[in-house]
Amino acid sequence: MMRNILVTGCSRGIGFEVVKGLAQDSSISVLAISRDEKGLSRLIEECRLINTNFHLHTLSIDLAMDRSIETISEYVKINFNSSLDGVIHNAGYLIKKAFVDITTKELKDSFQVNCISPFLLTQKLTPYLNKVAHVLFISSMGGIQSSKKFPGLSAYTTSKSTLMTMTECLAEEFKMTNIKFNCLALGAVQTEMLSCAFPGYEAPLSAAEMGAYIIDFYINARKYFNGQVIPIALTTP
Ligand SMILES: NC(=O)c1ccc[n+]([C@@H]2O[C@H](COP(=O)([O-])OP(=O)(O)OC[C@H]3O[C@@H](n4cnc5c(N)ncnc54)[C@H](OP(=O)(O)O)[C@@H]3O)[C@@H](O)[C@H]2O)c1
Repeated sequence: MMRNILVTGCSRGIGFEVVKGLAQDSSISVLAISRDEKGLSRLIEECRLINTNFHLHTLSIDLAMDRSIETISEYVKINFNSSLDGVIHNAGYLIKKAFVDITTKELKDSFQVNCISPFLLTQKLTPYLNKVAHVLFISSMGGIQSSKKFPGLSAYTTSKSTLMTMTECLAEEFKMTNIKFNCLALGAVQTEMLSCAFPGYEAPLSAAEMGAYIIDFYINARKYFNGQVIPIALTTP
């Protein structure tokens, strides 16, 4: 039976590698979301090289736009027959700027992509989640209380930290169902986002390595965890 998974932030970096990893399984159907159409086209090509039988849908959409939630929900309704086995909320927006210089728009965009969109998207998709569904939020080590913080990342870190509380709230609210909600708080992974946050820093993990870990966790951890925030970090920049 086909398993339908929605993954956000797939045009590059970790999300791109997550979808490539899922492409090895012909019984999985993925809806991959990002803004960059070229990145999504590249993803289609690379997945086709891995497995010509892989079912990949792509949707170029801006998660900062309110109407994106409705569009995604409609897409799932029509193309996935209102049935989802999981969501990996991987998209992330990073603004690196001194606290005093962050504009209202930059703060709102950070919260829209990193917090409000995962909240509203999960809310909208809940009726479509199957009994075995696993909803996975990708957050950041910086969002964990008392972890090391870095100047210039206040909007990013604050907005990403909300995913951890959201995970705990949803696990509690849905505990009578079998749907599981977990959150991975990532440390440094070599991607464009990391290069923007920490220019010149070399991360110990590639996007492909982290992508493989996320897939393994997504598939297997729902049996062992619910409402958990798990740090996945070898080092701190
Ligand atoms: N790399 C690290 O060291 C690290 C550490 C901690 C946490 N994380 C988290 O891991 C996740 C993946 O990060 P990454 O390093 O792979 O970052 P990345 O290379 O910058 O990729 C971010 C992805 O999010 C998508 N995205 C951003 N804004 C969007 C929007 N408005 N609408 C739709 N999609 C949007 C981007 O696609 P488009 O630009 O095409 O829209 C891109 O595919 C993020 O949640 C990030 O916060 C990463």
